[in-house]
Amino acid sequence: MKIVGTVDELRDLLRPARRSERTIGLVPTMGALHEGHLSLIRQAREQCEVVVMSLFVNPAQFEEPADLDAYPRDHARDGELAAGVGVDYLFAPGVEEVYPQGFTSRVSVSGVTEPLEGQHRGTAHFEGVTTVVAKLFNMVQPDVAYFGQKDAQQAVVIRRLALDLDFAVRIEICPTVREPDGLAMSSRNERLSPSDRRRATALHRALRAAAEAIASDERTTGTVIAAAMAELENVELDYFELVNPDTLAPVGERIDGGEVLAVVAARVGATRLIDNQSIQVPSTSDGEQAGSAKQEVLHCSARC
Ligand code: PAF
Repeated sequence: MKIVGTVDELRDLLRPARRSERTIGLVPTMGALHEGHLSLIRQAREQCEVVVMSLFVNPAQFEEPADLDAYPRDHARDGELAAGVGVDYLFAPGVEEVYPQGFTSRVSVSGVTEPLEGQHRGTAHFEGVTTVVAKLFNMVQPDVAYFGQKDAQQAVVIRRLALDLDFAVRIEICPTVREPDGLAMSSRNERLSPSDRRRATALHRALRAAAEAIASDERTTGTVIAAAMAELENVELDYFELVNPDTLAPVGERIDGGEVLAVVAARVGATRLIDNQSIQVPSTSDGEQAGSAKQEVLHCSARC
């Protein structure tokens, strides 16, 4: 694995691959790698001939300087892990390389950035994400870019960005990787104290409670949400919502058939965590499909 710090060097290194039409996969990260990131890299390794992982703790997407300072950084460990799963180029630019003196441009996506995280963290967060991701797409010019479903809203926003601005990149969203007790893997988990770590499983339990309620033919949104809320009493909740997976608009008072995305964000101690689960909703009249919703819950129980 080669570590690269500048855009010029990266372009020089990728030129032969591009000329010989080898597929280039990009896994954008902010480091503090865990199994979730490694699963993205493994998927990129399987599907692409050249794998680039970017490692850049993007100041533009942190709304609080303290949060940026507290973000875990261990580039040596990240380098070892990345090399171990087959990254070819570790692109780790400095802040000046990404945001040189005089930088004033921003890339922003409206609509899907506004609810949920946009409402609780401010839209500047997603503007920071879309600006850096657009820059990474231009710097690396990947054929495929890999993101995690764990950041469900970010995934929707990035798909929108790529579509709207005609980036010639396929966006792959990979499944959330979970700890054995269901907690979604996140770089933020290492900040949890042992007691907060135990409380943090509430997010996953709430998602499961919602999925189970739907699998038991409950279709009143308020009742499904109440079942989830019962699991969230010991955390400081920002939101628990059932939304359309494409538009992120809240579902109406009743849940129709199709796919619903359950999304949750909460503070556990000083750490803010997010999680989500896609739920296939059968129409209640269709017995065969109702069985498949139950299967989805069972599948989730087995996996989580
Ligand atoms: O998901 C992340 O780690 C970041 O938001 C990303 C996509 C690497 C942009 O900084």
